[in-house]
Amino acid sequence: MDRKQALLQPIQVGDLTLKNRVWMAPMTRSRANNEAKAPFDIHIKYYKQRASSGLIITEGSQISEKAVGYINTPGIHTEAQVEGWKKVTEAVHKEGGHIFIQLWHVGRISHPDFHNGDLPHAPSAINPHAKSFTPKGFKDTVTPKEMTIEDIKQTILDFKNAAKNAMDAGFDGVEIHSSNGYLLHQFFSRTSNVRMDEYGGSIENRARILFDVIDALKEVMPENRIGLRLNPSLHGIFGMEADEETIPTFDYIIEKLNQYNLAYLHLSEPFNEVSEIPYLEPHIAKRYRPMYKGALVINAAFDQEKGNQVIAEGLADAVAFGKPFISNPDLPERFAQDASLAEWDTDTFYTPGEKGYTDYPSLEEIKVD
Ligand SMILES: Cc1cc2nc3c(=O)[nH]c(=O)nc-3n(C[C@H](O)[C@H](O)[C@H](O)COP(=O)(O)O)c2cc1C
Repeated sequence: MDRKQALLQPIQVGDLTLKNRVWMAPMTRSRANNEAKAPFDIHIKYYKQRASSGLIITEGSQISEKAVGYINTPGIHTEAQVEGWKKVTEAVHKEGGHIFIQLWHVGRISHPDFHNGDLPHAPSAINPHAKSFTPKGFKDTVTPKEMTIEDIKQTILDFKNAAKNAMDAGFDGVEIHSSNGYLLHQFFSRTSNVRMDEYGGSIENRARILFDVIDALKEVMPENRIGLRLNPSLHGIFGMEADEETIPTFDYIIEKLNQYNLAYLHLSEPFNEVSEIPYLEPHIAKRYRPMYKGALVINAAFDQEKGNQVIAEGLADAVAFGKPFISNPDLPERFAQDASLAEWDTDTFYTPGEKGYTDYPSLEEIKVD
């Protein structure tokens, strides 16, 4: 039993005191299989089971109808969705937990099937040549519509409206999903953004929309309750192709984030092997810890040992665990007891219903059985 390990120490994030550094990474689980795309009873149960996490970051939740790109994913832009989320946040708070919602727009990863045949929106009309998970199964992505300035302004407003809804729903904060090849990430990259206006061309212009979104959110919620996620070395996944300007772009963004008093910056180590690619950074925490002055949470493929190590080395303040939280709802307690972890079942990551979602037992439930 080791309750003194780094991962289990409390952490101050803005004005919030979080009980540990074992955070739950955002994970789409496609259980909102109802007309309203709203969370319901099984979402309440799922998040409540995981409330011992220092901070739950919810699955990506769309900010508008245009933002949708996967089946059965919940939104945060209608009244029914806000009402659904209210019950989730109440349940988590009752257990002494904290919960942020991830605000999501998939951009060109969507498909006309979600938009009555209309094209998905993106910075430029460039097909990512990826797959879209539509109601009729996986389909090839299409060439999206290049957003007009009006579309961009509307999207910024949609982020703001979603953040206001998140506050109304009782969330402790929001995480802007500017990662993993979705809309905001598409703006950052020259391979997905060839615009010639103030949202394209230079590094500063390609990063502009993110800062516009942060500035808009600040009007409806405290700045120190805003987190955001970046995946600087994403390459060859979700249609993203890195180039020589990729890392300088993230350097610029992360330096500039120091001008804000955000809750945290959430970074991912590379999702695949990139050490052979000369212009990509294989060690994200090592590069960006010295650069970013606020709270830094790191993710991707961490276990208990590596998590404790990265904090002890001063390279991160907290660790976001994804898949381990799917199959181990009481992950912090398992770390405390040095208990073995249950395996996750990839077949039920995105299937409707309780199976593979709310039926993974805690250690306590196993003992009772
Ligand atoms: C089922 C599943 C769904 C995911 N959905 C999201 C999501 O909605 N938003 C996001 O930013 N990342 C998402 N991710 C990525 C995770 O947050 C995390 O980065 C990834 O699983 C690596 O962390 P891990 O090795 O601890 O699982 C998802 C991952 C999985 C396995």
